[in-house]
Amino acid sequence: MTNTSPVTAEGSGGEATGGSPAEALAARAEAISKIYGSGDAEVVALDDVTVGLRRGRFTAIMGPSGSGKSTLMHCMAGLDSVDSGRVFIGEVELTRLDDRRLTRLRRDKVGFVFQAFNLVPTLTALENITLPMDIAGRRPDRDWLDTVVDTVGLRDRLRHRPAELSGGQQQRVACARALASRPDIVFADEPTGNLDSRSGAEVLSFLRDSVREMRQTVVMVTHDPVAAAHSDEVIFFGDGRTVDRMPDPTAEKVLERMKGIESHGGGGVR
Ligand SMILES: Nc1ncnc2c1ncn2[C@@H]1O[C@H](COP(=O)(O)OP(=O)(O)OP(=O)(O)O)[C@@H](O)[C@H]1O
Ligand SMILES: [Mg+2]
Repeated sequence: MTNTSPVTAEGSGGEATGGSPAEALAARAEAISKIYGSGDAEVVALDDVTVGLRRGRFTAIMGPSGSGKSTLMHCMAGLDSVDSGRVFIGEVELTRLDDRRLTRLRRDKVGFVFQAFNLVPTLTALENITLPMDIAGRRPDRDWLDTVVDTVGLRDRLRHRPAELSGGQQQRVACARALASRPDIVFADEPTGNLDSRSGAEVLSFLRDSVREMRQTVVMVTHDPVAAAHSDEVIFFGDGRTVDRMPDPTAEKVLERMKGIESHGGGGVR
């Protein structure tokens, strides 16, 4: 993989998207760099990264700890700024928006799921799911909300508060919240990182169903080859750069590929 060619899933797709390759991408980064600190403390978190995320696909991002995965997600979701390069959500260039427009775009077009579920403890599951839209003064689309609630499998838990739910159920509420506004793309940063394997599997199958059945676009950072195997494509990250991609991953193939990346150095391995 050279630095100049975008890392995108080619695959057999193209259905429903047609048009130019850019239209088939829900989000893309062009030659983005992100540097933290300065002088001796300088860290190049993203080093000239060009990457495209296909619409209607489930993409996993993997790589050693400290390789820049979270930074990439934050920069592509408009939660953090880049030092150079351009970021697009659909055809809108994030890196040209003022704060007000960026906030609106993030609210309307982007969903985010964090490792810590970040639910409001005093609100019920349903109130948590609709909170971003309530704040924005928007009415949820009832049919869509029904679809999300059914896919998330929490219809009988909607009146429960987070403390009355299991970890997996709480994270499914967080996923439903990210999907409720029908965003163009959902970024999930280690969504199963705090879950046991059974709860993790619940969340993964929900994310996969949201792509397969609701035609959402999901990008997920994970350290777990089994979790990555749920995706349509894995993008491997090392030292602030994309180093490889793997369509139709299996846990075995992913594990094998990760060994190669970690033995080349890069960030610490955990
Ligand atoms: N706010 C910050 N200030 C300074 N350095 C930072 C900041 N955020 C991240 N970094 C550094 O940038 C690099 C990339 O961090 P990032 O969090 O993107 O890695 P990651 O791949 O998500 O790692 P992990 O798998 O451990 O979550 C690391 O060296 C990190 O220490
Ligand atoms: Mg991270």
